[in-house]
Amino acid sequence: MTTPFYITTPIYYVNARPHLGHAYTTIIADVATRLTFFLTGTDEHGDKIFQAAEKEGLNPKQYVDKISDLFRNLWPELNIGNNHFIRTTDPSHMAIVQQVLSRIHASGDIYFSEYKGLYCFGCERFYTERELIDGKCPDHEVEPKIIKESNYFFKMSRYQNWLIEHIQHNPDFIRPERYRNEVLAFLKEPLEDLCISRPKSRISWGITLPFDKDYVTYVWFDALLNYISGLGYPDGKLFKTFWPVAQHIVAKDILKPHGIYWPIMLKAAGIPIYKHLNVHGYWNIDQSKMSKSLGNVVEPLQLKNVYGLDAFRFFLMRDMVFGLDSNFNEEALVQRINSDLANDLGNLVSRVLSMTRKYFKSTIPEPDTGLVDTGWMELKSTAMAAVTDFDKQMQVFAFHKGILAIWELISQMNKTIDTAAPWNLVKGGNQQAELKTVIYNLLEGLRIVSGLIYPIMPDTAQKIQRQLGLDPESRFYLIEKLKCWGITPPGLVLPAFDPLFPRIETTSKPAASPGKAEAPSPRSDIKPLITFDDFSKLDLRVATIVHAEAVPKSKKLLKIEIDMGERRTIVSGISESYRPEDLTGLQVVVVANLKPAKLMGIISQGMLLAADTDPGDSLITLDRNAVPGSSVN
Ligand code: MSP
Repeated sequence: MTTPFYITTPIYYVNARPHLGHAYTTIIADVATRLTFFLTGTDEHGDKIFQAAEKEGLNPKQYVDKISDLFRNLWPELNIGNNHFIRTTDPSHMAIVQQVLSRIHASGDIYFSEYKGLYCFGCERFYTERELIDGKCPDHEVEPKIIKESNYFFKMSRYQNWLIEHIQHNPDFIRPERYRNEVLAFLKEPLEDLCISRPKSRISWGITLPFDKDYVTYVWFDALLNYISGLGYPDGKLFKTFWPVAQHIVAKDILKPHGIYWPIMLKAAGIPIYKHLNVHGYWNIDQSKMSKSLGNVVEPLQLKNVYGLDAFRFFLMRDMVFGLDSNFNEEALVQRINSDLANDLGNLVSRVLSMTRKYFKSTIPEPDTGLVDTGWMELKSTAMAAVTDFDKQMQVFAFHKGILAIWELISQMNKTIDTAAPWNLVKGGNQQAELKTVIYNLLEGLRIVSGLIYPIMPDTAQKIQRQLGLDPESRFYLIEKLKCWGITPPGLVLPAFDPLFPRIETTSKPAASPGKAEAPSPRSDIKPLITFDDFSKLDLRVATIVHAEAVPKSKKLLKIEIDMGERRTIVSGISESYRPEDLTGLQVVVVANLKPAKLMGIISQGMLLAADTDPGDSLITLDRNAVPGSSVN
């Protein structure tokens, strides 16, 4: 993308680990904005978080620190280049929330009143009857509770007509159009004022209202302001540069707070309105939204580890039509890798590079620009059309269409090889000139393909650049450079070739061994083969040993307290190999879903993994620190 802009993801709730849905939104933001300011973070206040902390026996601060770190640490693993990570517990953010509240309060848009309504604790908001489905919250599928209390209200109704006009005058303010229409339909009914406080007697985990110390701020009024506090509002340089070009990315679950509350909050506070709200659909599993509460989440890191990061990112961008729901399915992922990445892209790169090696000793040939167009010269116009189309589609978040534009070019290049049949041009004379030109054009096409795929598959793009003898650290992906034809310098010598995407054999279980068709024959003392599904029934987790002591009257057993995100007791037969006092602080691997068993009267909730080292045992430990509860795959 040529014009820099500011992009945000939702800041994610810290009541559960990140999953594929969170990864999707954040990868989109990364894809769309490798040239811009990109903010993500975590949303850490409110009842939901407080309850999740209680459930784990931690105080809220310890708990939010832990889960926020899971998000913060996941993003670099997915090659996501956010410029800043905001937490709503950051003191600078909390100060801004209070400042904005004071301003809106002073201008008369906040009033105190008693309210009785239907409240969903999962959504942290009141529902109107007509929003419920069969009397239940549509997202959490539970009946909301009737709550009656005195609270502060934000006069949203005052801004209803202004918002309708704003949306009508700015057709791409909310996009795709279906969500714009959804918001406009909602605004046809009178807008209720927003309850923006919670009494501390009920919820204390939040930002105190600057004008009433007995109340905390409603979590959405707090969270939405992250988008400006994260830029150093009101005086920060970042705020001045990037707020005028702000775009948010969210899924449809949080359309209402972003499409209605947020623009009205900005208007009431006298802050310019953001430019675009980009709304995507859900990743579903068997037609249900993937979510922690439904217990059907897919872990992004697992997919990365099995299939490779770029293949995973590509699949997410390619298989979801931005705005619509998509069903996640591992077989579809494998098929995509095999057809689009291994067959189309991988083969193209390997064909072009091996012909360069074979016919020109790996040296980029000089094209003959005087040659008359004989069909294969069309490559230039196909490439230029692909760049233009890609740029246009990516600007409007139509990622799958942007990818289709690249694949048009890839397929045209593969066809060019078949029709120009370079192997028939090897003879000499004019044909030598043609051969040089075809190969040069194909190499130039690859340069452009690598630039276009860069936002989606940055590592692969850089790898292709390297194989073309070009500088992978240069800003080779800039649209201006991709719009130029003929900038690959003839005479460059290409390095040795290394294939990009091995095919995944679908006959064996894909997740078990990508790229390997056959399993090695087992050693005779190894237990019979199991499938990946068998293996994935095991839940292995990292745990920190908090305390250990000998079990009275036992020669072998130690009673070990562990922190695995939750506290557990495990009885382990390692006392001949370890002194209890040496174990505290050690990070070990635990089988977390082993049925509890009673040993010497103590219930053991899991098992520590240890190697049989003659003599004694050696615990499996980690060579770097990990968050307790992290999965081991
Ligand atoms: N904390 C609020 C957002 C506050 S923003 C000021 C919140 N957090 S969340 O953890 O529930 O994240 C919701 C967002 O995560 C969705 O809007 C979407 O971006 C992403 N996704 C979570 N589950 C998803 C799917 N199953 N599919 C696609 N994206 C999903 O709401």
